[in-house]
Amino acid sequence: MAADDKKKKKMSVAEILAACRKLDSGDKSAAKEQAEAPQKAESAPATQQPPPAPAAEEKTAQTPKPTPGKRPSVQEILAMARAEKQKKAAAGGEKPAAPTAEKPAVKKPAVKPKPKPESAPATAEKPHSSNILAGQQLPKKRGPVPKSVLEAARRPARPKEQAAAPAAKAKPQVPPRPTKPPTARPKAKADQQRRGFLAVLGMMVATPLGIGFSSLATTMGLWTLGTLRFMFPNVRIEPPSKFKVGFPADYPPGYVEVKYKTQYAIWIVNAEYNGQQQISALSTVCTHLGCTPNWLEAEQKFKCPCHGSGFYINGINFEGPAPRPLERYAIRIAEDGQLEVDKSRKFQEEKGQWEDPDSFVPA
Ligand code: FES
Repeated sequence: MAADDKKKKKMSVAEILAACRKLDSGDKSAAKEQAEAPQKAESAPATQQPPPAPAAEEKTAQTPKPTPGKRPSVQEILAMARAEKQKKAAAGGEKPAAPTAEKPAVKKPAVKPKPKPESAPATAEKPHSSNILAGQQLPKKRGPVPKSVLEAARRPARPKEQAAAPAAKAKPQVPPRPTKPPTARPKAKADQQRRGFLAVLGMMVATPLGIGFSSLATTMGLWTLGTLRFMFPNVRIEPPSKFKVGFPADYPPGYVEVKYKTQYAIWIVNAEYNGQQQISALSTVCTHLGCTPNWLEAEQKFKCPCHGSGFYINGINFEGPAPRPLERYAIRIAEDGQLEVDKSRKFQEEKGQWEDPDSFVPA
């Protein structure tokens, strides 16, 4: 059997085709012979054909003959090819090969599918990252792609890297860092800063160079302040020229109000002048050299402490070096009934200005 199989396998395709062609040509010739056979028998009945050799009959009996008009099957073709080969071998002195019987169909044992590893299946069909990168790096130009790039893109992922990928994803648990004990660094830093400040202060005060620079800096600062003061004008802030001093009923005859002496430099007096009781505002400036006299209630006069000039209650001078009476300011009754003094206007008695009704208010 094994020898037959080997012989079967030794026939090439060319030999099989050649046998088929030969078989076709033999069939045609056989059909012609069958068609011509009765005619020949009729024409020459006396002639007898020689009987065929028994060995050849046996051989033809073993080989399956194809039915005329039908295309032979593969088995028939193979059988005829073998018979042809045996004929050749017999003609050449070789032993004919024994006809081969068909092999019984041997059932192959069912192969169990191997269980696939658990980690591999998910990633076996997935392309490797390097392959993806290689695919991305493919040239965008039209034309033939290099074979090495295509092979790199189609290359399956390496099992080692696939197995290592899930292990790399799991992050190792890092133990917490031990807390450092508190150190005395801030205190040392503060001490260092204090020492640096004291060193700079010592250099500024103790050394001649430091003294010189300190003096120069002080002088420059004072000059700067003086320059800034020079930028602002000298302005004397005075009280308003017009102000109210109360109602006329507050000033009875022979009364002198001294409370406005310090603030407004005036006295409000109710005194008789030229046979008329008048309320007037007298200046507190001595007509001698400008000193400020004092009201003496007991003596009913104004007395200058500088040179002894004296003035009556109505402001007329009567002793001392004062050459003229005290001056008056304008006074009037305002809309609300109060006395209003206007220091912007002065009235002098020696000029006859006390006759002006604006210089007094009749009491
Ligand atoms: Fe008043 Fe000389 S200033 S008496």
